[in-house]
Amino acid sequence: MSRRSTQLSFQPRAKSPNRNRTQSALALIPSSPSLSALRQSAKDCQACDLWKLGTQTVFGEGPVKARVMFVGEQPGDSEDKAGRPFVGPAGKLLDECLIEAGIERSEIYVTNVVKHFKWAAAQRGKRRIHKKPRQSEIEACRPWLEAELRVVRPRVLVCLGASAAQALLGKQFRVTRDRGTLLESDLATHVMATIHPASILRAPDREGREKQRVEFVRDLKKVASLIANEDAA
Ligand code: URA
Repeated sequence: MSRRSTQLSFQPRAKSPNRNRTQSALALIPSSPSLSALRQSAKDCQACDLWKLGTQTVFGEGPVKARVMFVGEQPGDSEDKAGRPFVGPAGKLLDECLIEAGIERSEIYVTNVVKHFKWAAAQRGKRRIHKKPRQSEIEACRPWLEAELRVVRPRVLVCLGASAAQALLGKQFRVTRDRGTLLESDLATHVMATIHPASILRAPDREGREKQRVEFVRDLKKVASLIANEDAA
């Protein structure tokens, strides 16, 4: 999308339903999917009503052979416009912290549990305010994430924030309590959750931001050493 078009005001668009208006994305998963086939098929997904709000589906991206997959909650305003995950302020912070931890963004696969931006118009101005996805929206979208996991088969899976962690690891999961801990799961050899980089940006003061950032990088360094151990094995 061009720079100019990103400056337009974004309103829910009048879109018409089509054959992809299914209860779950499952019906849209190609039989032997590649990442590009999945991405193509996801473009027209109408498995929940968020397709009416979002500008476009924001599918995951990264190498098919990525050893690490990072999963966030849903695309934000910038991602919705760009059609790519983690390219806005939280994504830029993630990139900086990955570098500090010694992880190359180009080597990881990055995606979200929900692939459309859920938002509400700000009371004043044109800002689009992020809204948390409902459980039914997470469930409707889940087949895309499951298909990404099947195709990429990451050795290390990292959930960013409570929504991703609870969607993948269960409602009982508490990021504040369980972050940075390696978990047993069928999803990947190593599974871990940490905070979402957006929560660092929301910290009320500089000191709080710095503390959260240091702790986030510490978690990412654990991921880096898991990759190093995998390489050495
Ligand atoms: N937050 C997310 O969880 N995902 C993105 O892609 C961007 C911000």
